[in-house]
Amino acid sequence: MDNLDRWREAAQAVHWFKTPQQVLDDSEPPFYRWFPDGQTNACYNALDVHVAEGRGEQTALIYDSPVTDTCRRYTYTQLLDQVARFAGVLADHGVGRGDRVIVYMPMVPEALIAMLACARLGAVHSVVFGGFASNELAVRIDDATPKLIVSASCGVEPNRIVAYKPLLDAAIELAQHKPDNCVILQRPMQPAELIAGRDVDWTQAMADARAVPCTPVAANDPLYVLYTSGTTGQPKGVVRDTGGSIVALKWSMKAIYDVEPGDVYWAASDVGWVVGHSYIVYGPLFSGCATVIYEGKPVGTPDPGAFWRVIEDYQVKVLFTAPTAFRAIKKEDPAGKYLQQYNVSSLRSLFLAGERCDPSTLAWAQQQLKVPVIDHWWQTETGWPICANCLGIEALPIVPGSPARPVPGYYVQVLDGNGEQVSAGEIGALVVKSPLPPGTFTTLWQAEERYQSAYFARYPGYYETGDAGYIDANGYVFVMARTDDVINVAGHRLSTGAMEEVLAEHPDVAECAVVGVADPMKGQLPLGLLVLNAGAERATADVVRESLQLVRDKIGPVAAFKLCTVVERLPKTRSGKILRGTMRSIADGEPWKMPATIDDPVILDEITEALRTLGYAA
Ligand code: COA
Ligand code: AMP
Repeated sequence: MDNLDRWREAAQAVHWFKTPQQVLDDSEPPFYRWFPDGQTNACYNALDVHVAEGRGEQTALIYDSPVTDTCRRYTYTQLLDQVARFAGVLADHGVGRGDRVIVYMPMVPEALIAMLACARLGAVHSVVFGGFASNELAVRIDDATPKLIVSASCGVEPNRIVAYKPLLDAAIELAQHKPDNCVILQRPMQPAELIAGRDVDWTQAMADARAVPCTPVAANDPLYVLYTSGTTGQPKGVVRDTGGSIVALKWSMKAIYDVEPGDVYWAASDVGWVVGHSYIVYGPLFSGCATVIYEGKPVGTPDPGAFWRVIEDYQVKVLFTAPTAFRAIKKEDPAGKYLQQYNVSSLRSLFLAGERCDPSTLAWAQQQLKVPVIDHWWQTETGWPICANCLGIEALPIVPGSPARPVPGYYVQVLDGNGEQVSAGEIGALVVKSPLPPGTFTTLWQAEERYQSAYFARYPGYYETGDAGYIDANGYVFVMARTDDVINVAGHRLSTGAMEEVLAEHPDVAECAVVGVADPMKGQLPLGLLVLNAGAERATADVVRESLQLVRDKIGPVAAFKLCTVVERLPKTRSGKILRGTMRSIADGEPWKMPATIDDPVILDEITEALRTLGYAA
């Protein structure tokens, strides 16, 4: 089908306050505008429309929290009531169309309610993952300049309570921009002290809140900003528009995941990541499914049968998670003994994304669950899959190691360094021909120039994904590695450049390098190599310990920065570029070539020794 015809047809499944006459405005590349003259509302399409169509009593949201021993269900009518009233709370505190609201919350239904309430008002939410530290939150506060922040007193990790409120207070202290108000959900495990005049108690505010209707917004109005890691410490604020997102996500639920209204769809991720935005909140609700908010882990809450229990309890039809979750389960229960205790016959398919899916994890999952296990490739920037085996269109044979073929609407190619297309099977830069389909990013928040230079400048006419890979003779795409300093730790995207910036702040560190090394469970882990200043005052062990703490404090526990050592020198090219790729290959025990431009080859022997002390370079 012609590209524009597909999206014109898909748009007919959406509720519009003003139906768009134009499908695509391509007058200002790379700033493409889908459905430019339409008016709609994402919250209306997620909730009101289903109640209006008579599905109000159907389950919309299931909250399952093994860490607090809670399970709660909301029908579409109940969820709409909560969202409309929380939108009233926001409106009464001055939030309106176009204002930004930061949501910094654990995996509780109120996170989803806050997001949808913003959408209801035409306000722009920016969700910050709870595992980020104050400093990262402060950077996002200064960039998004929110009128208001929604947070909770605490999060609950299996081994500890994470007090969110002190992290929030510290972030606001650090930031230049100050929000007018913070709405705080008090959780009984650890209530927080509220600051009079600024902080508002969620429950009290909701007690006498008025329900407000949806504000019609332009299709190209931003629905949200979601920050993601780039090559530097300054994260990129990915902007998603409203109309394109509704059209694409709703279409993808049927075409890719093959679900219908009423099905239970579970993305075991976090609302702080793009997977959470697209497939915990918006996609399933646009499609009238029941979505699951799971506050727990694949293992340890309480055991590796946790996922199977959730599937049985709620009759989950499709599960979506990262390969790392399955590696964690496999490690603790290789023979699948826990699976035997549950009836998971409701499950039709498992979708994996967030990192490369190694063939052995794929095979194990397939063997255990006996359903199609679908690897699919996407990014925060695209918002929904670039490549997938589209079960709702035509199930393709599964080829381990490949996320199958491009999804309709994405024109994927592999280019060499000169921008020339390479032959089948040859590795190069994975790019997508412009325009990207609806629902992908429309710009970077307050950084239009960076949008162009980071993604569209190197290969004119194409979007540069930042991934390298190849396409085989059957059109299957293989995504092999990043072409930049981004690493993937337990399915979480992190910047080694940002970690280096933090380490460089230590007064005794003269120079440093962080590389992503292979880890059997998390996929990759960051590993830091430090060169100390001559005459450094602190003992080496102290500098290492403080450096680990510095990354935890400044970026957050999610960085999982636990490997670090001191070296005499770092290997460099003659022009001074640190040879991070060579160090990573040595660490992983992969074959590597001595770079022709290396300044002093002897340094690599020293580095190999240092990596061995950390258990690498075997
Ligand atoms: N708030 C506060 N802290 C958080 C947090 C949150 N929302 N999420 C994670 N953290 C902390 C953890 O407590 C942990 O801290 P620690 O160093 O004190 O132990 C650290 O961040 C790393 O967390 P995590 O990545 O979850 O690692 P883990 O070792 O606790 O668990 C897995 C490993 C594989 C079980 C886990 O990463 C997982 O379930 N991954 C699923 C993948 C996923 O959701 N990917 C998202 C994209 S699809
Ligand atoms: P994020 O923006 O956090 O979703 O991370 C996107 C990056 O994760 C991509 O650019 C890839 O490097 C990696 N990624 C995601 N899904 C896959 C996949 N199925 N196969 C290989 N890499 C993937």
